[in-house]
Amino acid sequence: MPARDRLIVALDCATAEIGLRTTEKLRRRVGMFKIGSELFTAEGPSLARKLVSMGEGVFLDLKFHDIPNTVRGACREAARLGVRMMNVHACGGRKMMEAAVEGAREGGRGARPLVLAVTVLTSLETPELAELGIEGTAEEVVVRWARMAQAAGLDGVVASAREVAALRSACGPRFLIVTPGIRPASPAADDQQRTATPGAAIEAGADYLVVGRPITTAPDPASAADAIVQEIERALGAFDAN
Ligand code: C5P
Repeated sequence: MPARDRLIVALDCATAEIGLRTTEKLRRRVGMFKIGSELFTAEGPSLARKLVSMGEGVFLDLKFHDIPNTVRGACREAARLGVRMMNVHACGGRKMMEAAVEGAREGGRGARPLVLAVTVLTSLETPELAELGIEGTAEEVVVRWARMAQAAGLDGVVASAREVAALRSACGPRFLIVTPGIRPASPAADDQQRTATPGAAIEAGADYLVVGRPITTAPDPASAADAIVQEIERALGAFDAN
């Protein structure tokens, strides 16, 4: 997969107008645009439809978590929008994840969108998991739930750079790992705690990177995106050479 296709830009904004303005600056330079709960709650599915009609890839980041029948319907409708990637919470359980994949297949008309699992939210640490009655360290739970997602037929997981190596060895080379919390070497880390550079995340084994503010708030978003694509390219080259 070309380096450019591995870069997903997070459109974390409240209006379709701002999202479209960002998209226009980045068209054909990145692989996908991520629409999350803020933008979707404000604007509904119209922006996703519009981006798909423009030929852009969309990652619908709504992290579904409900009974299997409801998640199946939600994934079917997401697939009907024509998005390329969507996600659900692994803690919804195996049956819910299987239903998610079935729904995506039903709505996908031939090409099923990729379905990813969110394992342990990076905002939760081991003591909070214990408080929830979930046994093990955060890393152990991430790996356990990723394996369950894989067994349920999901295509991959969303995971922080810190978890990528453990997931890659637990789930093998074909299970997709999508990594947010990416910061090119220089700018501030914003509110992200566990950041990695694009090169480090790719070298650790990530397939896709999700990048928001380092691109969307850059003075020149197009060149910020191009620089990250180049860094991905270099890391892939180093990876192939080993
Ligand atoms: O602006 P920034 O690059 O931090 O945006 C990262 C994006 O990835 C946001 O849309 C955020 O919701 C998402 N994300 C994250 N950390 C996770 C999961 C998702 O930052 N653990």
